[in-house]
This record gives sequence, C-alpha cells and structure tokens, in this order.
Amino acid sequence: MPPADTNPGPPPEEHSKPCDIRALVPLMEMRNRIGYVYGSEDAAMLLYSLVRREQPKNVVELGAGLGVSTAWMGQAMKELGAGQVWTIDDGSHWEEEGKLKLFLGQLLQVPPFNQMAGEELDYARYMGRMIEVTGLASHVSFIHDRLELSSEEAFYGKKYGFLARPIDALFIDINRTPDTIIDTLFMFLPHLNESASIFVDSASSSLASYLFLEKLIDQLNHSKVPRRFLTGQNKDRRRMLVELVSQRRFTLMHMVERLKREQNSMAWIRMEPNDYVPHPKTVMKWV
Ligand SMILES: C[S@@+](CC[C@H](N)C(=O)[O-])C[C@H]1O[C@@H](n2cnc3c(N)ncnc32)[C@H](O)[C@@H]1O
Repeated sequence: MPPADTNPGPPPEEHSKPCDIRALVPLMEMRNRIGYVYGSEDAAMLLYSLVRREQPKNVVELGAGLGVSTAWMGQAMKELGAGQVWTIDDGSHWEEEGKLKLFLGQLLQVPPFNQMAGEELDYARYMGRMIEVTGLASHVSFIHDRLELSSEEAFYGKKYGFLARPIDALFIDINRTPDTIIDTLFMFLPHLNESASIFVDSASSSLASYLFLEKLIDQLNHSKVPRRFLTGQNKDRRRMLVELVSQRRFTLMHMVERLKREQNSMAWIRMEPNDYVPHPKTVMKWV
C-alpha cells in the first residue's frame, strides 16, 4: 500500500476564474447610467454570468445598441482569457443629431468613459472608443453594417468574420417580430454549434412573438421544417436545415422581468443534440 502522501486521490476540482473587480466597476457604471436605454441593465449581467459559466468561444449579437450587453459579454471572455463577441449595428437608431450626445451625457462623466468627453462622437466612433477604453478590443469586434437577411447571396456577400467557426450563442436584438426571427434562424442555424443558445430580446412579452415562438419550437421538436427554411436557393443548405431540425431538440424558456416597461423580457432557446446527457458537455456524475 503506498504511503498516504503519494496517494493521488481525486483530481482537484476546478474553480471559476476570479472576476476582475476593477474592470467591472466601469461596466457597473455603464449599466447604471445607460443600461435603461434598451432595458439591458440586468440582462447584460445575466449574459455575463452565462458566458462565464458556459465559456462560448463565438458569440454574435445582432443589434449592439449602446454596447452594454456587448461589453459585459466581452468582459466575461476577457476574464476567461478566450472568446470573441461580434456585434453588428447599422446605427439606424442613432442617426438623429444630438440624440447620442444626450444619452451619453451621464456616461461620459465617469472614468474611463470620460476620456471620450471632449471628442466628436458619432455612433460608430462611440462604439469603437467604448471598446478601446474598457480594454475589450481583443474580445469584442464591432461591425458597423446593416444586417442582411433577405437573401443568402446578400448575407454571404458580407463575408462576416463570425461565420469562420461555429457560433455558440446568438443574441437577436434588432427587432423581435416573427419574420425577423424566422429569417434569422434560416440564415444562422447552419452556422450554430451543435449545442447553442439563441436569445431573442423582448420576444416573450410581445404577444405575437410569444405565441409564434411557442408554436415554432413545438413544430421544430416534431421535426416539422418551417416553410421559410425550404425557400433557400442552395439545395445542400436546404437539406442541411432539414437534417438539423430532425437531429436537435429545442427548449424554450421565457425570461420575463417584473418591470413595467417596453423591453422587459428575453426568450431563450436552447438547441442541443438529441442526447441522453446535457450539452455543452461537462463532467457528469452517474449517480
Ligand atoms: C435594442 S437595440 C440593441 C440593444 C443591445 N443589444 C443591448 O442589449 O443593450 C437595437 C439596435 O439594432 C440596430 N438595428 C436595427 N436594425 C438593424 C439592422 N437591420 N442591421 C443592423 N442593426 C440594426 C439599431 O440601430 C439599434 O442600435
């Protein structure tokens, strides 16, 4: 029998990496000062925790807004030392002169955002500088562009960098209407990892979107392929979508907020392989 001190015993348990308190203070300021604009104060922190727990490597956000959720997800990746958030926005909400300045007024009073105070900021410049001053440039990529969902040609013509590897999480936040949701799924499903999360902001507290998602997820789980998925020009892609629907299971969770306001929910669709263990894969206890 080996002496007690050479007995290897069970491997040490992993601990979650420390949070970077200094980096989180500015993000708290951001959340407190401008998070309300898109109702992202708590959603951003929820996404931060999910990123830390599940360690997605490739996250795509459709609609950056003022970058509150973007920054929190990017910070989680920075703390983990891996991962990339791609966020796309055409700045259409921020074209009106003076509007950006008005909303950013509160944020630009506190460090590190006060470095931008004297600068001429349009929407794209704000996003670029915000990513710089929060130190998130190595984990966040901002794409200043209009998302094209009308045709595969238009979508693939953009040569989006996030298509280079499977997407682990997709955050749909340009709008919550059923046609945008189905168009987005049509374009993105073939690019999602076999286990992935899809978030649709505000969909659960809009009756049309809520009922649509309830019906859609039920149909997908019965391998009923939505008609939109069969309208693509590329035959291989159409076949891929049919196979994908038959090989996955979809779970829909409505996350609602008690706050009485316009943006007070998020639908969470979890897609996983049809397996007898949960995904993404982790250490399982068998009893
Ligand atoms: C609700 S905000 C995003 C909020 C952000 N995700 C958050 O959690 O704080 C929606 C954004 O989508 C952008 N947007 C709307 N339609 C778009 C499109 N077709 N392509 C790119 N961006 C779009 C708007 O400019 C706006 O900034």
